Amino acid sequence: MSLTKENDSTTPEDEQRLVNIKNKPDLSQMYNLYDFEYVARNTIPSTAWNFYSTGADDEITLRENHASYHRLFFKPRVMRDVSKIETWTTLLGKRTSAPFYISATGFGKLGHPDGELNLTRAAGKEDVVQMVGTLASIPFDDLADARIDGQTQWYQLYVNSDRELTKRTIENVEKRGCKGIFITVDAPQAGNREKDMRSKTIDQDVKVAGGEHNDRSHGVSVAVTSYIDPTLNWEDLVWIKTITKLPILLKGIQTAEDAVLAAQYGCHGIVLTNHGGRQLDFSRAPLEVLMEVMPALKEKNLDKNFEVFIDGGVRRGTDILKALCLGAKGVGIGRPFLYAMSTYGVEGVQKAIQLLKSELVSSMRLLGVTSIDQLGPQYIDHNSFFSRSVPADKLFDKVYQPLANPPFKSEARL
Ligand SMILES: Cc1cc2nc3c(=O)[nH]c(=O)nc-3n(C[C@H](O)[C@H](O)[C@H](O)COP(=O)(O)O)c2cc1C
Repeated sequence: MSLTKENDSTTPEDEQRLVNIKNKPDLSQMYNLYDFEYVARNTIPSTAWNFYSTGADDEITLRENHASYHRLFFKPRVMRDVSKIETWTTLLGKRTSAPFYISATGFGKLGHPDGELNLTRAAGKEDVVQMVGTLASIPFDDLADARIDGQTQWYQLYVNSDRELTKRTIENVEKRGCKGIFITVDAPQAGNREKDMRSKTIDQDVKVAGGEHNDRSHGVSVAVTSYIDPTLNWEDLVWIKTITKLPILLKGIQTAEDAVLAAQYGCHGIVLTNHGGRQLDFSRAPLEVLMEVMPALKEKNLDKNFEVFIDGGVRRGTDILKALCLGAKGVGIGRPFLYAMSTYGVEGVQKAIQLLKSELVSSMRLLGVTSIDQLGPQYIDHNSFFSRSVPADKLFDKVYQPLANPPFKSEARL
């Protein structure tokens, strides 16, 4: 089965891609998450690359998500016994080997025939949490079946206009042992994702959640999100809580005001995220939002038994440490695991997780802390944070693909 139209065509780009695949670096040569992105950009089908990498509009938020981490510096402490470092923590009450998790992304099969099964298997082997997405290209029950004993999965929920369907989904997710429901609240419609919109040839074989009547003429993003209920509002939480005993978290909070409301409506937590820069361009970096959310929750005494997660632009162990120092309980990572999966399958995802764990261990040791619970704001210098200017970012610039203009037809001279 072909996943995209371009698999059937023989453009020079496709031929070059096949040559690149044969000549890609060995997995042992991957030293950081950017290495996977670099290999992906040069080997995976353009429909997959465009859907995975795209941000919204001018991609200002996409770049700012990552750049924001470069405006925080550390205040390391020395002369402490740092011989033994432990990275384990608890997320929603379950112990896990590291304070980061695989965030929900859709359409894994665009990048690899086994799709999100790669993510489930690697997460199981490495003991990290996987947030399974509504738009996964592998059915949820298959991803639940692929879990090993004790492995934690969370479920990312898009509330469907067909509320009966949403109810059945929640009931099944609970029955199948997921440990939390993350309702995505930042997508009453798909963002304006132009890289993706230029990939208009989605093969009808690619399964699209939400039925057969979606508009497939504007790229993958629009095709898959047209069923999401734009009437979703705070009062719906009351209804959702009658369906399940699972912890309910809101994914997509971007202000202190909404963080406080989520706690007051009885949510178990929130994810500070702008959907990886794929929704409203000029949304602030989640790291900046975190800095106003934690004091606001504390002031109202809402920070106990309420877990704040963050995602977007996290690419290094030091990024994770910075977020945790400022109060995040856990950190989500999206695209890098898609790139690792698309290029090297399960082993690729495992390697990416191992690299992050190893960066965490070495950075914690150099920071002077031996366990996650020791992290705090005393280790952070944010003097340059609000200037919004960042040091040059060579690896990011190398893998970042600038937005394109429409191609002229063959005779044109530009
Ligand atoms: C290809 C792709 C698909 C995504 N699909 C969803 C989705 O269906 N639901 C959702 O809540 N978030 C989705 N996200 C957002 C991620 O869960 C996460 O917030 C984001 O990827 C984090 O940014 P990062 O990719 O820079 O790590 C998607 C992200 C990507 C890159």
